[in-house]
Amino acid sequence: MAVERTLSIIKPDATRRNLTGKINAKFEAAGLRVVAQKRLQMTCEQAEKFYAVHEARPFYGELCAYMSSEPVVVQVLEGENAIAKNREVMGATNPANAAPGTIRKEFALSVQENSVHGSDSAENAKIEIDFFFKPEEIVG
Ligand code: CDP
Ligand code: MG
Repeated sequence: MAVERTLSIIKPDATRRNLTGKINAKFEAAGLRVVAQKRLQMTCEQAEKFYAVHEARPFYGELCAYMSSEPVVVQVLEGENAIAKNREVMGATNPANAAPGTIRKEFALSVQENSVHGSDSAENAKIEIDFFFKPEEIVG
């Protein structure tokens, strides 16, 4: 298995409830390393650009408003098989379907306020990492 990097976002519902450390502990316990991290508040335009793939979905407007409503923590996670591993640790999009022990099962409030984002493919991981980080900001 290859060492990969993936883009993770700790979403507003989680930063608001001071869960950054608890969520990072889950990543670290799964063998994922935080090799870049910053806290920021996205503009509405940034959120719209980041989620452009969902433009046609009925939840797009609300999702972009939510993601820009309060601070987030954007991070690069590194590890063996990091993209799939992160998705596993996150759990299903809808917390009602998320497996026990996953971040979304333990912390998510709803299908929208589901605490974390994670890239879904190697191609998107690269695009999403470049969206938030300069190469020199990532130190593995
Ligand atoms: O985040 P994930 O890749 O698991 O799910 P997605 O299908 O790519 O959707 C992106 C985000 O949109 C989700 O994480 C939710 O925050 C939000 N969403 C929503 O608000 N309502 C839905 N019915 C589905 C997704
Ligand atoms: Mg997705």
